[in-house]
Amino acid sequence: MTEAFKAVAPRHIAIVMDGNGRWAKKRFLPRFFGHKQGVDALIRVIQACIDRGVDHLTVFAFSSENWKRPTEEVSGLMGLVLAAVSRYLARVGQMGVRIRIIGDREAVPDKLVAAWRDAESSTAHNDKLTLNVAFNYGGRWDIVQACRRALAAGLAPEALTEERLAEFMALAHAPDPDLFIRTGGEVRISNFLLWQSAYTEFVFSDCLWPDFGEAELDAAIAAFHQRDRRFGGVNPAVTPAQEA
Ligand code: IPE
Ligand code: IPE
Ligand code: MG
Repeated sequence: MTEAFKAVAPRHIAIVMDGNGRWAKKRFLPRFFGHKQGVDALIRVIQACIDRGVDHLTVFAFSSENWKRPTEEVSGLMGLVLAAVSRYLARVGQMGVRIRIIGDREAVPDKLVAAWRDAESSTAHNDKLTLNVAFNYGGRWDIVQACRRALAAGLAPEALTEERLAEFMALAHAPDPDLFIRTGGEVRISNFLLWQSAYTEFVFSDCLWPDFGEAELDAAIAAFHQRDRRFGGVNPAVTPAQEA
């Protein structure tokens, strides 16, 4: 990876990791195997993002709506995530990754919440890449929880601005995503980062998530570089990246 390429990497990439079930189905395997392969794809992509100088990677792992799936799939996913934390936490920590979990922890099993807490505290000192894992996350939930916390903090209605509300959003610690990638061929946001993606560039890939790797990531980044980001202004616009 050249320094020149690193210099222009998107600072924040958000990914809807979709297509695990179809990946398994194509191989006549239970959906669970697709999810399992999906964890390996994530580890690959974390390393690729570090190599490319990305600061934040935010991945959609379980949506507020995924509870609608059959009970066995939901519990299989909970177990898989728990196993993935114990299997990969040390490795990911050594890679210099800081882990943060965003989403509603209320309905998540206690064991998993405890594992999240451990993952967050044991990697809190890392600064190569922040991995934000969206789990039991929904964009609408995020906006509502931010409003609730703002009200609880005593914010008066007239003091509520976009900037103040943003301080209470789940990704308050990160810049808005520059690039949004959705694998699996569907062209929708599925209640991911509704607030934060106001000016994000969207790239949709037919690649199923377990097959996603460096080449597909580079293709998405290349597509991102073709975009003319105007942020509502006129051409030639000064983008935040150019200002920095
Ligand atoms: C995405 O893959 C992973 C989760 C939602 C947890 P899917 O399970 O949605 O895979 P498809 O879309 O059915 O292929
Ligand atoms: C979005 O994928 C959620 C995750 C990848 C975690 P879904 O497969 O749940 O989305 P829909 O149901 O196709 O919109
Ligand atoms: Mg899906």
